[in-house]
Amino acid sequence: MTDIKGKRILLGLSGGIAAYKAAELTRLLAQAGAEVRVVMTEAACRFITPVTMQALSGNPVHTDLWDASVPNNMAHIELSRGCDAIVIAPASADFLAKLALGLCDDLLSTLCLARECPLLAAPAMNLQMWGNPATQRNLAQLRADGIAILGPASGDQACGEVGMGRMLEAVEIFEEIDASFQPKLLAGKRVLVTAGPTLEPIDTVRGITNTRSGKMGYAVARAARDAGATVTLLSGPTALAPPRGLERIDVSSAQEMHDAVMARVAKADVFISVAAVADYRPKEAKGHKLKKGTGEMMLELQPNPDILGTVAARRRPPFCVGFAAETENLEAYADAKRRRKKVPLLAANLAQHAFGADDNQLILFDDAGKHELPRAPKIVLARALIAHIAKLLPKK
Ligand code: C5P
Repeated sequence: MTDIKGKRILLGLSGGIAAYKAAELTRLLAQAGAEVRVVMTEAACRFITPVTMQALSGNPVHTDLWDASVPNNMAHIELSRGCDAIVIAPASADFLAKLALGLCDDLLSTLCLARECPLLAAPAMNLQMWGNPATQRNLAQLRADGIAILGPASGDQACGEVGMGRMLEAVEIFEEIDASFQPKLLAGKRVLVTAGPTLEPIDTVRGITNTRSGKMGYAVARAARDAGATVTLLSGPTALAPPRGLERIDVSSAQEMHDAVMARVAKADVFISVAAVADYRPKEAKGHKLKKGTGEMMLELQPNPDILGTVAARRRPPFCVGFAAETENLEAYADAKRRRKKVPLLAANLAQHAFGADDNQLILFDDAGKHELPRAPKIVLARALIAHIAKLLPKK
């Protein structure tokens, strides 16, 4: 399901109360098939024991620069070779400062300096420590040195204060590590994605909608972001948490989604229309709750604008990708829809296979014909779709 399987990840813990989240992160990485080696600073061992980390990673935990049990007696070299990534979580203010200066007075800082692989750090500290100019100066240096800084988040802190400096949750760090392994096929591209259903108001408390969960559109947005694109996600009403690292704009009706797309499309290189836009809306939305009567009730509907069709008809359209959910005659309907909407690529699925589920199967239609993507988690399909888009994008 992820590209973490088979990866060698060195997880380094420095001292911080968020060390408990590193235990869960280790479990997630090990479950996904990574080989996890854990190195802890002396301060980290005050918060969580090496025994826990050994049990979860299935490997001995290293804490000592002078560890004589390491074959060549050079733990810092031995451990940092052959790694696909080093992840520091939690990364304390002190540890970030050491990294920024290139200090190496313990095993973890030494192997970071001796590394040949990417380094990712998830800061965790009190909000004043985070905001201190010294920390911010160090972070700027670390970013300039190519070190990926994951988070932090804002929220309740162990010290009782509230603000920036909370370490990301284990699952968020896991997703960031997974993202770091994705090829940057859309680097420098701006991608606009629509997702979810739309809600067409009947009155102030009722509306017409559909059963789309938004999961496929969110997966596509995340995959585009992981491929290095700058992503704007225009989302209809869903219960999904916004993916990290992209701009999410919430809209409700098809007209709102249309206006939000039109305001941004001129700058987009790629437009991926995953939303299940309602084809019709009530002609008149009442500004108060309709009262129940005794007889029948007629609802007059009028068509909504076709967002994808309008974008594809622009004089200089972005690369447009449509989606088609059908309940029957999938291939014939989808291929006809691609031609009618004049889009270079259309992804089709059977509605009964996809709605609300975590996996799906897709058939891609383009000028070369059809390409089947077998059943897989939506994020896997989304990544395959992004790779296909990257291949079709006009080369500058
Ligand atoms: O015409 P149909 O709704 O089947 O087409 C599906 C594709 O068109 C999807 O990509 C959907 O996001 C897009 N669409 C749109 N605006 C509409 C209706 C559909 O952008 N009003």
